[in-house]
Amino acid sequence: MSALLDHQLLSVDAVSTGYHKKIVLDGVTFHVGEGERVAVVGRNGAGKSTLLQTLLGVLPAWGGQIVYLGSDVTHRPPQERVRSGMALVPQGGRVFANLTVRENLELGAYVVRDPGAVARARSLVYETFPRLGERAAQRAGTLSGGERQMLAIGRALMVRPKLLMLDEPSSGLAPIVVRELMEKIHGLSASLGTTILMVEQNVREAFKIVERVYVLKLGKIVLEEQPDVLLRDDRLRKAYLG
Ligand SMILES: Nc1ncnc2c1ncn2[C@@H]1O[C@H](COP(=O)(O)OP(=O)(O)OP(=O)(O)O)[C@@H](O)[C@H]1O
Ligand SMILES: [Mg+2]
Repeated sequence: MSALLDHQLLSVDAVSTGYHKKIVLDGVTFHVGEGERVAVVGRNGAGKSTLLQTLLGVLPAWGGQIVYLGSDVTHRPPQERVRSGMALVPQGGRVFANLTVRENLELGAYVVRDPGAVARARSLVYETFPRLGERAAQRAGTLSGGERQMLAIGRALMVRPKLLMLDEPSSGLAPIVVRELMEKIHGLSASLGTTILMVEQNVREAFKIVERVYVLKLGKIVLEEQPDVLLRDDRLRKAYLG
């Protein structure tokens, strides 16, 4: 596949990486179109978080190519990728517990230099998550699990991302909260055109809002499928989601 020929927002071609000498991603190839919502699934330890961190550039790619917005960003620093519209909500939705909701959001916008743009982004986050607006002055450590996850997403939204990457946003949340969160993520994509690349174990809820699914196994993408097909097919479900 030639990553440079197509019209994808993100094209990942034969990317490999790992830790020390241990290889974790071994030639990962996939793509995400502008405005698409895509999920990556795979067992614990498959390398899903490693993949998102490599896309953002906080882990170096050992080989292969990452093309984002038509540019080869494989060896560009993460700050530059964030400035050009990539954002990652890391696994565990970490927020600064001793800072307020508003302060957490402001830290999310540290690469944004224009104060007007920061204020507009903050209004957008409060519109998307009214509960964060109501709790602007509350310390993040006192938020509920769902609210904290919303804050982690809100923080990523402060850079007005084109590509929002989410690492297991539903982890640790009650089923009803997961549904609400997935609807919010879908809403972002529908109203702002934000492209979504999500790693999720909660396939039942995540598959309701994504258009395509990739399965990561033994360091490679082994399947690309539509979510309903993957859920309906017993053989596929057992082999890849079991
Ligand atoms: N900092 C690190 N140093 C060494 N090995 C690591 C490091 N981080 C992750 N690994 C290893 O790399 C592999 C992939 O880890 P990764 O966190 O990407 O998996 P994952 O698919 O996100 O798993 P999970 O579903 O549990 O979050 C695992 O074997 C893990 O132990
Ligand atoms: Mg992970």
